[in-house]
Parts: sequence; structure tokens; C-alpha cells
Amino acid sequence: MSVDTTFMSINEVKADMDHIYNQSDPRAYFHELKKLDYAIPDTAKPIFQKLIGHLQQRQHDTVHVLDLGCSYGINAAILKHNLSMDELYEHWGQKKMTDATSEEIIAYDQQFFADIDASEEIEVIGLDPAENAITFGVESGLLDEGLALNLETEPLSALATGKLTPVNLVTSTGCVGYMTEKSFDRLLPAVTEGHQPWIANFVLRLFPFDAIAKSLDKWGYVTEKLEGQTFFQREFASDDEQEQVLKQLRDQGVNPSGLEAEGHFLAEFHLSRPMKDAAEVPIERLLQA
Ligand SMILES: C[S@@+](CC[C@H](N)C(=O)[O-])C[C@H]1O[C@@H](n2cnc3c(N)ncnc32)[C@H](O)[C@@H]1O
Repeated sequence: MSVDTTFMSINEVKADMDHIYNQSDPRAYFHELKKLDYAIPDTAKPIFQKLIGHLQQRQHDTVHVLDLGCSYGINAAILKHNLSMDELYEHWGQKKMTDATSEEIIAYDQQFFADIDASEEIEVIGLDPAENAITFGVESGLLDEGLALNLETEPLSALATGKLTPVNLVTSTGCVGYMTEKSFDRLLPAVTEGHQPWIANFVLRLFPFDAIAKSLDKWGYVTEKLEGQTFFQREFASDDEQEQVLKQLRDQGVNPSGLEAEGHFLAEFHLSRPMKDAAEVPIERLLQA
């Protein structure tokens, strides 16, 4: 039996969340995902912090992060302001937010985030096809720059290419699967123009990373998976979703016993670095406590 492992077909076994990705503020996103205990930006946080720490030590300068599939600026909120998903669920679920307009929420959030001491000296460029989410991210001050682009369907403009030159670290949570190697093929010439950033993807076990790793290899990158560790992403939305995901995993030769079979999506961490950096310090040593 041949197994269809194109991301488009794999996505069919997942609950469709598109309706919450492009609102003019994050309330619906947080309302819906709280029900599923969506947590990958939190579980990814300590790893991203370690990578930022290493890069800061190396270059003694602001780390410029490009967050792929950034949505409303969620990883930016968590990393720049040292917040947790629970704090963000509480923030955008507050009673006083219920009747507010999106403009009022943006005005409130500008102040709210500005009042929190930035814990990390980083700048975050967010890329996501969801134009409204990007606008929110930029206007609220979470994103330093926003690129409303779908690299699956369009190339990078010269303007966007210019904005990507300073990037030292590319991150993503919950995005690979929507993004395929096609996007990375379009991104790599731009992000490697100045120097070669590290590329850090948290990817559901449902989505094979091989094709993206192969694309990155063409640009001199070595991809390592952090072995022996999985990262909680979210609960399944329904028994039906779980059943379909388990079947898809088994068909792809991935054993879900004791893992997804327990009721939740799990991600793995893939780090792609220039060959020289990967040879100097392997991923396990880099991420040691
Ligand atoms: C599950 S959400 C993850 C958002 C955020 N990174 C997080 O973890 O909370 C998936 C995001 O991927 C975005 N997305 C969908 N297609 C994409 C594409 N072709 N390129 C980049 N992002 C995409 C969606 O708009 C959405 O914001």
C-alpha cells in the first residue's frame, strides 16, 4: 500500500483551524485553542531561549529572529516578554476584553506589552499569510516587522528580501505542515544573504521533515533532530481526529503507542545549522541545561 505523505493530504486528518488564524485580534485564537490546551510555544520556549543565549554570547548583539507562521506574534510575546501560554490565555480571555473592539484591544495591548520589561534583547520579524494577524502583531508592538506572505504560493519580494538580511535565528511552532520545502526554497536565498542563521523548527511527528532537511542541505545546512524528546502540542480536538491521526502515523511507520495514543499531538525539535557549527557542538551538548 502506498502512503500519501504530502502535507496537504496529511492535513486532512487534522481539525481545521483556519477560521481563527486571520481575525483582527487574538481573542478567538486563544478562546478556541485554550479548549485544546495548545501549548507548543510554551514547550518550545526553553529551547528557543537557549539558542538565543548561545547566539547572544557569540555575537554580543541583538538577536534577530524570524518567526515563521507567527500568527498574532505569539512566540514574540513569550520570548520578548517572558510570558507563558497560560498568561496569554488569561490576558486575552479577560472579561473586559469581551466587549472591546479590536482597536481598543490593540491600544490596550500596546500599553500592556510596553509596560513589561523585555526579558530578551531580541527583535522579531513575523511571517504569516494571515494579513490581519500580522497587522495585529505589528500594531500591538509584539512584532518589530511583519511579512504577510504565503511562500507556498508566491516568491519573496525584493522589499521582503531586504528585511530578512539581519536574521540570525529562524523559528517555528505549529507551522511546518502548512509550510513545505517550497517555502524554505524561497526563503533560503534571502536569509542566507548576510550570514547563515540557525533554523529551529518544532514539527508534529505527523509531518516528515526529510524534504525540508534536504532543501536546507543544498544551502550547506546540517539538520539534527533532538533524539528521545517529544514536545506536547495540544490535545486532540475529537476522538475522530485522534483515530485518523493514529492511523496516519501508523501508515507512515511512526509508532504512536504510549505517545499520541495517549490523547495528544506531539512535536519533535529539528535544528538546522551551517555544517561548521553543527560539527563544533552537537545538538545534545548545545541544549544541555
Ligand atoms: C497552529 S498556528 C501556529 C501559530 C503560532 N506559531 C503558535 O504556535 O501559536 C499555524 C499558523 O501557520 C500559519 N500558516 C498557514 N499557512 C502558512 C504558510 N503557508 N506559511 C506560513 N504560515 C502559515 C497560519 O496562518 C497560523 O498562523
